[in-house]
Amino acid sequence: MDDDILELYPNCGQFHALKGLYLQQIPTRNEQPFLYTNYITSLDGRIALPAADRRSHEVPPAIANARDWRLFQELAAQADLLISSARYFRQAAEQEAQAELPIGLSTEFDDLRAWRIEQGFSPQPDIALFSTSLDIPPETLQAYADRKIYIITGGKADPKQVDKLTRETAARVIRCGETRQVDASQLKTRLGELGYRRLYAIAGPSVLHALVHGNALDRLYLTTAHCLLGGQDFDTIVRGSKFSPACNLPLRTLYLDRRMPENAGQTLAIYGH
Ligand SMILES: NC(=O)c1ccc[n+]([C@@H]2O[C@H](COP(=O)([O-])OP(=O)(O)OC[C@H]3O[C@@H](n4cnc5c(N)ncnc54)[C@H](OP(=O)(O)O)[C@@H]3O)[C@@H](O)[C@H]2O)c1
Repeated sequence: MDDDILELYPNCGQFHALKGLYLQQIPTRNEQPFLYTNYITSLDGRIALPAADRRSHEVPPAIANARDWRLFQELAAQADLLISSARYFRQAAEQEAQAELPIGLSTEFDDLRAWRIEQGFSPQPDIALFSTSLDIPPETLQAYADRKIYIITGGKADPKQVDKLTRETAARVIRCGETRQVDASQLKTRLGELGYRRLYAIAGPSVLHALVHGNALDRLYLTTAHCLLGGQDFDTIVRGSKFSPACNLPLRTLYLDRRMPENAGQTLAIYGH
C-alpha cells in the first residue's frame, strides 16, 4: 500500500513508494559539478506569500507538506554542498527561518543520514550562501560549525565587510564576477576546484535567477500542489531580468501523489538533464 506514487511519464502506469523516490537521482561520478534545485509551488505559481506578521515571506502552509519535505530531504542527502542565502541566516537570527538546513536532525531522517555514510559522503553537506549585502549574523553560522561554510558574493563586495566576516566567522569568502552581485557563470568551476560535485540550490528566486543567468542550472525538481492561493504579493521560482534565450528544461519524469496536500494532491516533475 506504500507504493502510491503513480508515474505518468515516461513509464506511465507504474507505482512507486515515496520513500526513496528521489534517492540515487543525482550523478555521483561526474567530472563537472552538477547543480540541481527544488521548489514547491501552487497551481497559480506561488512559492511564497507574506507571513502572518507580514514582515517576511514564507512557504504557504496550504502547500507545504510532509511528503514534499521528505523528497526535499532526499535531494539534500545526495548533495555535497547546499546553496542557501544570507536571507535564510538573517531569518534564523530572528527565529523566523522555517526549518534548520538539511539534513534534518529529527528521527524521521535517520535513514538519510545513515545512507550518506554508507555512500561514503560526509555526515552533512557543506554550505554556501549567496549575499550582496554581506549582512550575515555571525552567531547564526555557529549552528553549522561542523560543516565548511562559504559566502559567495560579487567581486565588488565591500572589503571591510569581507574582513569583518573573515575575522568573526570560520567562513571562507568567494568572489564571483565584477559587480556586487554574484555572476554565477564561473561558480561551478570555482566550486569544482574545491572538490564539490553535487550542488543543491535551496535558496529563493533571485539566487535561482543568478544561477540560470550564469548557465549553471542542470536540473529542476518542481512539486506543484493542486490548489490556487491568490494573493498579490508573492514569489515565483525565479525573479530577475528576462532570460534571452529562454532557459529550456525538458521534462524527464512526472509523478502524481494523490495523498498531500489533503483533497488536492500534487504532481512531482523533474526537468532538465
Ligand atoms: N516554495 C519553495 O519551494 C521555496 C523555496 C525557496 C524559497 N522559498 C521562499 O521564497 C521567498 C523568497 O526567498 P529569498 O528572498 O530567500 O530568496 P532570494 O530571492 O533568492 O534572495 C535571498 C538573498 O540571496 C542573496 N542574493 C540573491 N541573489 C544574489 C546575487 N545574484 N548575488 C548575491 N547575493 C544574492 C541576497 O542576500 P543579501 O540581501 O544579503 O544581499 C538576497 O537577499 C522566501 O519566503 C522563501 O521562504 C520558497
